[in-house]
Amino acid sequence: MAALHARSITPAWPQEDMVEHAGRDICLGVGQPLEAFIIIRFVEDQGEILTIVTDPDHRKQGHGRALLNKTESILGEKNGKLIFLEVAEDNVPAIALYRDRGYDHIGRRPAYYRRPEGRVAALTFCKRLDASSSIG
Ligand SMILES: CC(C)(COP(=O)(O)OP(=O)(O)OC[C@H]1O[C@@H](n2cnc3c(N)ncnc32)[C@H](O)[C@@H]1OP(=O)(O)O)[C@@H](O)C(=O)NCCC(=O)NCCS
Repeated sequence: MAALHARSITPAWPQEDMVEHAGRDICLGVGQPLEAFIIIRFVEDQGEILTIVTDPDHRKQGHGRALLNKTESILGEKNGKLIFLEVAEDNVPAIALYRDRGYDHIGRRPAYYRRPEGRVAALTFCKRLDASSSIG
């Protein structure tokens, strides 16, 4: 997971962080060897997507969509009501993926991510897993 993450995201998360996530959060993967994965934190009835990555050599093959589908069905089985995530506002592929899966843009957090070239805002997205859930 750490190696795949390092190919896609700067700064990459160190291996120790991945070990911690594997012990504490929901981690789902595609492929053997690993081609894509997602990490979700689930607390009470809410999930948060901490990261989702598809290896650059395996993008646009439906892995991201499949991981989100699986996430939603697992959280649904656990009576999850809402899924949140943050994404850099210039991350066109990820934003397209979330919109494709029906996530709604609900907020913007300025200067949220630190990058070598400067800070960039995050957009917050949310998806309701059942029609009766409300945000706030
Ligand atoms: C975002 C990411 C996970 C998408 O993974 P993926 O496996 O390539 O996504 P999928 O093949 O399942 O794409 C599903 C849909 O998302 C959208 N999408 C995915 N990549 C896209 C791109 N480069 N441009 C436009 N839309 C894109 C499309 O709607 C696509 O459906 P389509 O193929 O029928 O057009 C991948 O680009 C990635 O790993 N990026 C780097 C890491 C990252 O930024 N993660 C998000 C952190 S918040």
